[in-house]
Amino acid sequence: MTSDQPTDQAPPLIIVSNRGPAQFDRDADGNRVISRGGGGLVTALTGLATHRRVLWVASAMTEEDAVVAREAGGPAEIELEEGSYEVELVASAAAAYELFYSVIANPLLWFTQHYLWDLSNAPDIRVDEKAAWRGGYRVVNDDIARAVLKRLEGEERPLVMFHDYHLYTAPAIVRAGRPEAFLHHFVHIPWPHPDAWRILPREWRDEIFDGLLSNDIIGFHTAAYVHNFLDCCRELVGCEVDYRNEVVRYGDREIWVRAYPLGIDAERLRRVAATEEVADYERELLARRREHLIIRVDRADLSKNVLRGFTAFDQFLADHPEFHERVTFIAHLQPSRQDVPEYQEYLERIEALVAVVNHRHGTTDWMPIDLRIYENFHEAVARYKHFDLLMVNSLFDGMNLVAKEAPAVNTRDGVLMLSENTGAHEELGSCALSVNPFDIEEQAEAIHRALSMDFIERRRRADRLREIVDARDPGGWVDDQLADIRAKRDG
Ligand code: G6P
Repeated sequence: MTSDQPTDQAPPLIIVSNRGPAQFDRDADGNRVISRGGGGLVTALTGLATHRRVLWVASAMTEEDAVVAREAGGPAEIELEEGSYEVELVASAAAAYELFYSVIANPLLWFTQHYLWDLSNAPDIRVDEKAAWRGGYRVVNDDIARAVLKRLEGEERPLVMFHDYHLYTAPAIVRAGRPEAFLHHFVHIPWPHPDAWRILPREWRDEIFDGLLSNDIIGFHTAAYVHNFLDCCRELVGCEVDYRNEVVRYGDREIWVRAYPLGIDAERLRRVAATEEVADYERELLARRREHLIIRVDRADLSKNVLRGFTAFDQFLADHPEFHERVTFIAHLQPSRQDVPEYQEYLERIEALVAVVNHRHGTTDWMPIDLRIYENFHEAVARYKHFDLLMVNSLFDGMNLVAKEAPAVNTRDGVLMLSENTGAHEELGSCALSVNPFDIEEQAEAIHRALSMDFIERRRRADRLREIVDARDPGGWVDDQLADIRAKRDG
């Protein structure tokens, strides 16, 4: 899919998210280092930003980001391998940012939207959490909204695209300051049913919906999330909702709620897959590979269901000793949100379980699970090329781009095991081995089925997967949203 090149007539486009395309830090020698942002949102938005000229407003997430923000005093050009971006980093007070990120956004909003609570035990919402809402979430949203309003000064027909769960309340502030602006919000994570939202204090909920419904269009990855959102507007906010046309009436405004499933840039990925850097990792991988290779590549996030994946592999090895020494499971996990205690503990539990499984089944020269806890995109792509089975068993997942990326460059007609609770399942379910992420037995059987599958069926499924993945790219995702923006604005 292709799209319009930016033109002078195109409205100025401002995209706003918590994480920007890059993060600044200091290395041990005190030199400034820049690293690429991880996760689905950055992948999507870098696609958008290379597709059109945009100003990207994002939070300063590290101390060094705040220094960069101060030095720039406004938008600055950030150079990365794939291109350069005009970025404005917004620095909030460090204490407010900590409450915003590590108390409210992750875990409270993230856990609620991924159904991660063990409700008889958590969450406890006390004075501290209420203070974090007031002194963290609201403050950072205010700071971001004020930075956006400043950029809108003098702009006619401004267009602002907010992203994700960090910024639910900012649009209300921008709407109050610029009633005629066109505001758009894309939520990259699942939107759960109304009862899930009843966990959060009513006051927060009201602010979240008031903020979101200050937009003109709200986008999600799937039709199921759109449906849940419409249910929430009706049941929790009392709005009039038109399900057929996907419209919510809020006060005197109409808000469109639409699904825009994000695609990947398969061409770019194939170019990366053909680089010498990836080839180096492939050589290392192929020198050590056994007959069958299972991989998973994820942020080390609780929603990814890493523990049950290893337990299923453990079960598979117990049920099928004939596969011993013939299969390796490489799990490539990028550490994430280590300032949130639940995430630290999760990594510890993963390491402990891997030790148990390797001890139970391993031999002196065979380690069943090879756990790699670091970020290395080229190494991950080398694995993408050679898997026989890709495991994506998330509990709940907004889209899951690994399920699209890895099959796009795989050379072995590898099989995709895919949780039915991922956004990607709406598109890829029919050519994957669908699993219920809680059903460990089903996942153990799926591993066996994948590794025993004949090559004709593997090819048939892999061809179809590639066809579906190739049919959409991030440009198409942006174009579909811009077309609706034009239709609503001018219609
Ligand atoms: C998901 C979220 C993004 C987030 C990313 C990485 O993809 O939808 O909003 O940026 O995870 O998480 P982090 O907390 O590191 O930004």
